[in-house]
Amino acid sequence: MSSENLRSVKVEKENGITWVMLNRPEKRNAMSPQLHLEMDTTLAELETDPETSVVVVTGAEGNFSAGQDLKTFFRELENDPAGRKRAAEAANRWRWERLYMYDKPTIAMVHGYCVGGAFMQLLATDFAIAAEDATFCLSEVNWGILPGALVSKALVDTILPRHALYYACLGVPFDGKEAARIGLVNYAVPKARLREETAALAQKLMAKSPAVLRATKQAIRSVRTMDFGQAYDYLAAKGQAIKVADKEDSYHTGIRQFLDEKSYKPTYEPFRLKGAGKADKTK
Ligand code: COA
Repeated sequence: MSSENLRSVKVEKENGITWVMLNRPEKRNAMSPQLHLEMDTTLAELETDPETSVVVVTGAEGNFSAGQDLKTFFRELENDPAGRKRAAEAANRWRWERLYMYDKPTIAMVHGYCVGGAFMQLLATDFAIAAEDATFCLSEVNWGILPGALVSKALVDTILPRHALYYACLGVPFDGKEAARIGLVNYAVPKARLREETAALAQKLMAKSPAVLRATKQAIRSVRTMDFGQAYDYLAAKGQAIKVADKEDSYHTGIRQFLDEKSYKPTYEPFRLKGAGKADKTK
């Protein structure tokens, strides 16, 4: 499947930012098997796309996603174990394996409804920004299933267990401001500014060295489950690896610009990255 034949996913590219939209607005962007297959292909293609520096995952026409499609993903696949396996594999691959360690920075932009299984992509992206009036809900408890795939696990990895228990066990909706308060998203903004604030974050990310940014996000994620000795070794090795991958030679350039040229302060801004905003073509 090529991204040119997409039915349930929409892709828009704009100055290095690629907006990937779940595109079933009439079903509040509930995720069908077809949508999962298309998202899996799309994200794989964008990971090596030279025009894409940052991926924003969102939903078309006002909603992030109403979760798994209860009709086409659950009920219609009940007696089709092979179809169910194919759909579940694609669903988990793009929502977790791909996004969690994606080579490029990823942002979830949440507006409207974000329900149930949509928490997977919310939690797997590196950053998340919500409209203040977005509606989040772990509805699973209300209809007799668990927050499955990896939702429960990713939830307690991201927010405090008390908040996770409260919202998973009660299944009550909460808004974007509350999502920011409990650390589920980075911040919430008025709906009218959501897209521009998301683009602003993407611009900041594109001003960094892509290789250093990639190593940093991978390191932050990877050390969570390591003990201190493992983390020392891992971070030392990762630090060496950056020097090979970082085409901008950020370390020496930054030191020179700060100490010799006195042209910037690293506390406040990235060093003058040549070609900032362009996609990483070095991988
Ligand atoms: N699966 C399948 N279809 C869904 C869906 C889902 N998760 N969420 C919404 N839809 C469908 C509705 O069945 C309806 O289809 P129809 O027009 O053919 O009847 C359409 O999308 C619009 O939904 P509707 O309920 O009329 O919209 P709303 O704006 O009043 O409410 C929600 C939106 C999200 C609050 C509501 O649809 C809902 O609670 N959905 C279930 C969400 C859920 O529990 N997801 C967890 C799955 S893991």
